[in-house]
Amino acid sequence: MHAWLCENPTGVDALTWKELPTPQPKAGEVLLEIKAASLNFPDILIVQNKYQMKPALPFVPGSEYAGVIQAVGEGVSHLKVGQHVACLSGTGGFGTHTLAPAAMCMPLPDGFPMVDAAAFIMIYATSYHALVDRAQLKAGETVLVLGAAGGVGTAAIQIAKAMGARVIAAASTDEKCALCKSIGADLTINYSTQSLRDAVKLLTEGKGPDVIYDPVGGDFAEPAFRTIAWRGRYLVVGFAAGPIPSLPLNLALLKGASIVGVFWGDFAKREPKANAAMMGELAQWYGKGKIKPVIDSTLPMAQLKEAFAHMGSRGVKGKLVMVN
Ligand SMILES: NC(=O)c1ccc[n+]([C@@H]2O[C@H](COP(=O)([O-])OP(=O)(O)OC[C@H]3O[C@@H](n4cnc5c(N)ncnc54)[C@H](OP(=O)(O)O)[C@@H]3O)[C@@H](O)[C@H]2O)c1
Repeated sequence: MHAWLCENPTGVDALTWKELPTPQPKAGEVLLEIKAASLNFPDILIVQNKYQMKPALPFVPGSEYAGVIQAVGEGVSHLKVGQHVACLSGTGGFGTHTLAPAAMCMPLPDGFPMVDAAAFIMIYATSYHALVDRAQLKAGETVLVLGAAGGVGTAAIQIAKAMGARVIAAASTDEKCALCKSIGADLTINYSTQSLRDAVKLLTEGKGPDVIYDPVGGDFAEPAFRTIAWRGRYLVVGFAAGPIPSLPLNLALLKGASIVGVFWGDFAKREPKANAAMMGELAQWYGKGKIKPVIDSTLPMAQLKEAFAHMGSRGVKGKLVMVN
């Protein structure tokens, strides 16, 4: 097998494409031939030693992938050789093969494309958990999505629309705004050329959004929060811009608003039954065409460094997927 190896977590440049012995699955594991692996924001952080999870060195990065089971370890009874699965295990995806924890593998229905499967779990699970579970979004409410053309942002647009909400998508270029419209956003704001606060006020006739979905943080958090509607819910999803913002708590008081943390990874660990039910519902929504990952482009696995550079340039719309 071949894989991108991180021996020295100083960044993408230090990754090397190496030939490694193909491992045999231990108890509770399966050996997967990887067909596709998508890039998620933590994949950049983990190879820079900046992510909360710090794997033992050396490791193969690649949090989310899909492939075909080649061998199953002892005690694995619910999966079999030849089965197609998707998995989000945190590492291991950027190679030709990996050992995956069987409990984390999601069996794929017949015909589920590998590229979509590799780009599915993280974005939809996060956005569903955020909007449905944490924000209790209702049909007819208005949702403002920041970073709306990114991975979790595109998923948030599709899920909010599937729930009957009105979506205002905010992003940094006109091209990104156009992409958001094409996948269902009702209104868009280019926050590089418009004042976010003024534009949200105008588009909501002063009422403000009921739910704000924020995977960006940085300088947009406070102006966005200042627009929130009475009884609004502000979803703290991530900090793609870098700085972790602070919010004056009087703003929450004045609007009767809630600041709601979203941590899908821990939700999945702490509440596995609720997570499994959610994933089942999302698979059904995919089957009915309510949701479909936005794929920016697919690249051969060997071009991982080019893919990271594209992601780092803030140019990606939806998801980048590496394929074998
Ligand atoms: N809480 C959770 O459970 C959870 C789960 C998954 C992901 N996350 C977090 O959510 C965030 C977004 O993840 P993602 O996979 O959607 O990432 P992504 O596809 O790269 O999208 C991030 C978006 O953030 C915006 N952005 C603003 N400043 C940026 C900067 N300096 N560098 C890069 N992007 C910047 C970009 O949109 P514009 O150019 O339009 O501004 C970009 O499209 C990350 O912080 C990630 O760790 C959290």
